[in-house]
Amino acid sequence: MTRGKVISQQDMATPMISAQAEQMIRTFDNEAPHHREARLAWWREARFGLFVHWGLFSAAGGTWKGEPCPFLGCWMQDRFRIPLAEYAAALLPKFTGERFDPEAIVKLALQAGMKYVIPVAKHHEGFSLFHSQASDFTIAQTPARQDWIRGLADACHGQGLRFGVYYSQNLDWHHPGGGGIRWDPAQDGDSDRYVDEIVIPQVRELLTGYGEVSVLWWDIPGGEVPGGIIDAARAARILAVVRELRPNIVMNNRLGGGFAGDTETPEQFIPPTGFPGRDWETCQTLNRTWEYTHYDREWKSPTTLIRELIDTASKGGNYLLNIGPKPDGSLPRSTVDTLRAMGGWMQVHGEAIHGTCASPFATILPWGRCTQRQLPDGVTRLYLHLFAWPFDSILRLPTLTNTVLGAALLSEPGAGPLPILRQADGRLEVQLPIAEPDDYATVVMVDVVGRVT
Ligand code: GLC
Repeated sequence: MTRGKVISQQDMATPMISAQAEQMIRTFDNEAPHHREARLAWWREARFGLFVHWGLFSAAGGTWKGEPCPFLGCWMQDRFRIPLAEYAAALLPKFTGERFDPEAIVKLALQAGMKYVIPVAKHHEGFSLFHSQASDFTIAQTPARQDWIRGLADACHGQGLRFGVYYSQNLDWHHPGGGGIRWDPAQDGDSDRYVDEIVIPQVRELLTGYGEVSVLWWDIPGGEVPGGIIDAARAARILAVVRELRPNIVMNNRLGGGFAGDTETPEQFIPPTGFPGRDWETCQTLNRTWEYTHYDREWKSPTTLIRELIDTASKGGNYLLNIGPKPDGSLPRSTVDTLRAMGGWMQVHGEAIHGTCASPFATILPWGRCTQRQLPDGVTRLYLHLFAWPFDSILRLPTLTNTVLGAALLSEPGAGPLPILRQADGRLEVQLPIAEPDDYATVVMVDVVGRVT
């Protein structure tokens, strides 16, 4: 997939839609609104999650035979047209996992203020991070041996985070009949057999053997890539199994075959206006790519990432931030430092992110972003996230007709109310302290009567 591309339903190819398959997909898309609201309630509340890209590609560290991969390293096998047996022989022994610690990873996510964790269970290379009866190309064949999807599932359930799985159903460069460009005769095969003998059994395994699974994060829809194989009929067969086993699961828009899913998936960017009327989740990398790449040191700063999280929440979306463990399972130092820095901010300001709704203001706020929450008794709390401190320490809000109850700093609620001045034309001004309390983003809470429209 190209960087920054939004996959929308329109982009997906919908070949071979039989009336029956189409009906099946529509049934899933046309769920009763109250059921859908209940199913997505936790997800909308969560706002912040962890993505984990760990796979055989991690063992290559972004280079093949000394040559850096020009595109995402997890696409190396395709980019270099590496024969299947050669790829497996080179990387299986290097995937050692001896320092992979699911409890510590989940704890780091929890402390960062994340509410859900989505590890790659099978990426485009076709390798399963879980033990599978459907394929022998799994973690059991590596020195890491253990079923680390189970490790993460158990850690999530034990520490109170939601657990989901990423599964590449369309692209599979390893199993005969899997989607994508073919460069090795071993990839030839029947795609219906691939769906019925690999995808569906593995999805069954993932949805039945790991306790509660809250998200199925598909990748990538059939028409998105050359050789894509997920059409409406195949999508419908997969969906039937998912709905039977986990009717409340949340799915993204990347299954293919015309299935809209629950969530839009902008990749590595935040859309200017979000997706009004649709749930959405930006997935973002910490550096330039998803998987561990030893020479990619273009780490985004905690300031950038915290502000992206705020920006996303202010547009009503979720932020799924990725980590790429090394082949031994340990995390790059800067990954840990960054997540801890984000956690420091979230511990104080999590209330301004979790369970909040998009900004009520249509205008661009020159000083930052706004999220909001409905409090009891018809009170609306506005969270004003300041990225730039006003030169005169006066925060200027757009016109508000609501009665204002008070303003305070979220980081210092005990410091007392901030003085508020209402101008004759209805604009509000809040007197801030001279010094900015938080370098990442200071949050001013303003409570008003009624909804802000
Ligand atoms: C793209 C890439 C895939 C990556 C995913 C994460 O679809 O193909 O490598 O895992 O995005 O969003």
